[in-house]
Amino acid sequence: MDNKNLLNNLNEQYNFELESAYIYRAMAHWCEINSWSGYANFLYKQEAEELEHADKLKAYLLDLGYNVKLKAIAEPKSEYDSLEDIFKSALEHEKLVTSRIRMLFEEARDINDYATEDLLRWYISEQVEEEASFNDIIERLERINGSMSGLYIFNNEMAARQ
Ligand code: FEO
Repeated sequence: MDNKNLLNNLNEQYNFELESAYIYRAMAHWCEINSWSGYANFLYKQEAEELEHADKLKAYLLDLGYNVKLKAIAEPKSEYDSLEDIFKSALEHEKLVTSRIRMLFEEARDINDYATEDLLRWYISEQVEEEASFNDIIERLERINGSMSGLYIFNNEMAARQ
């Protein structure tokens, strides 16, 4: 089985997970600057999750003796219009991650790389949770519809994410 190309693509995904962490960190900064510490907390926790996603890929590649490479990370966007803008951008980002994972999964299937398929199955389930989580937040923000008291109550709930 020649899975060299697939492993290169997993290395790309490793870097993309790090880029995701960077994007969520920038979003958290925006929230902090705008005095929304609860939303910032949620996004910092999201950043930590992305680092876990990255580490899982890195560990797998290293187990296979692959020479893992770090790439340059693009500067993340730092200006947003609103909390809704942030979380809608986050959802779009997660949809992109999902499509990338699906492509990797299909590539693993095509070459009968069962071990990688198994690894990617975990990411596929994880993506369902990630998209659902951001969808829920957007729905809640839409219901709040700009009400300051509603935004503060939600901010306090978001501060509780472990
Ligand atoms: Fe690692 Fe949020 O996808």
